[in-house]
Amino acid sequence: MFEKHPYSILVSQYLQERSFPSTPAYLYDPIRYILSLGGKRIRPMLVLMSARLFGKEDLNDVLPASCAIEYFHNFSLLHDDIMDKAPLRRGQPTVHMQWNDNVAILSGDALLVKAYEELANSPAGKIPSLLRVFNQVALEVCEGQQMDMDFENQDAVSEAAYLNMIKLKTSVLLGGALKMGAILANASEEQQQLIYDFGVNLGIAFQLQDDFLDVYGDPSSFGKQVGGDILCDKKTILRIKTEELATGALRESFENLIGTVALSDEVKVAEMKKLYGLLAVDEYSTQLKEQYMQLAYNKLSSIDVAEQNKAELFALADMLMNRAK
Ligand code: IPE
Ligand code: IPE
Ligand code: MG
Ligand code: MG
Ligand code: MG
Repeated sequence: MFEKHPYSILVSQYLQERSFPSTPAYLYDPIRYILSLGGKRIRPMLVLMSARLFGKEDLNDVLPASCAIEYFHNFSLLHDDIMDKAPLRRGQPTVHMQWNDNVAILSGDALLVKAYEELANSPAGKIPSLLRVFNQVALEVCEGQQMDMDFENQDAVSEAAYLNMIKLKTSVLLGGALKMGAILANASEEQQQLIYDFGVNLGIAFQLQDDFLDVYGDPSSFGKQVGGDILCDKKTILRIKTEELATGALRESFENLIGTVALSDEVKVAEMKKLYGLLAVDEYSTQLKEQYMQLAYNKLSSIDVAEQNKAELFALADMLMNRAK
C-alpha cells in the first residue's frame, strides 16, 4: 500500500544508496537490519510531499533531510522496543531480542548520529533553521516517551494528559517533517506553521489508530505484538476511557484484571478486550481519531496553494487512517 507510492520509492532508493561500515558488526548490522525491514516510510514521504506542495522542483535538496527524519524515527524505535519490551517490529524480531539491549542502545545512538550527518548534507543556507526544528522535535519526542513510561505506573491519567503525551512522542515528528519540507521550499513562516499544525493533528489521529491497532490489529498483517499495550499497562485512550466509564460489576472486573498478576497474557488481553467492547471505548477512540483528522484536513485546506496540489497529502492522510499496520 505504502511501498508502491512514488515518494516512498524515491526515499527507498536514497536509503539504499547509503552504506554503513561492516565492522563492528554488532553496531552496524542492527542498523542495516532495521532499515531493511522497511516500514511505511511516511515521515520521509511527508518531508518530500511538503516541499513539493510549496513548489520545490528539485527533490535532491530535500532527500537528506527526509533521510535524517527516517533515521531518527528508526533510532527511536530501537530504544522504544526496549522500553516497551516489544518482541516484534515490522513482522520480525526486534533488535533487542535478535541481539540484546546493549546492542539496541548503541546502534540506536549511532543511527541518531547518522541522522545529524544526513541533515548536514542539506543546502547550507537551510541547515540552521532545519536544525532548530529537528532539535526541538527530537527533544519533545524524548519528553513524550518519558511521559508514556511514567503513565505506566499511574492509575488516573486524564484524556488531556494522554493527548499531550502522544502529541509529543509521535505527532510533533510528523509536524516537524512537514515543516522541514516547507522550509526547504522557502514557504513563509505562516505557511510553515499551517503545515506543521496539519502534521500534529494528523499525528494525533495516527497514534490513536496505532493504539487501536495494538488491540484490534490482525496479527498476520500488523507486524507488532497484538495486545502489547495491555500487557505493559500502557495508558492508551482505550484504557483511560475504560477506567473512566466502568462502574458496578464492570468496575469490579476491571479492578480484578489490573490487580491480578497471575493471569496469562492471553487471558489478560482477551478480558480487557471484552471490557473495551462492553464499554464501547473502541468506538469512542475512533470518533476521537476522526475529530483530529477533521482538524488536520481543516489546516491543510487553509494552506495557500492550488487545491489540486494538496490531493497527494489528503490521499496519504486517508491511507494512514485506514491502514492495517
Ligand atoms: C511506529 O511508527 C511508531 C509510532 C509512532 C506509532 P510507524 O507506524 O510509522 O512505523 P513504521 O516505520 O511504518 O514501521
Ligand atoms: C512510539 O509509540 C513512539 C515512538 C517510537 C517515539 P508506540 O510505543 O506506541 O509505538 P509502537 O507501537 O511500538 O510502534
Ligand atoms: Mg512501542
Ligand atoms: Mg512506546
Ligand atoms: Mg503502539
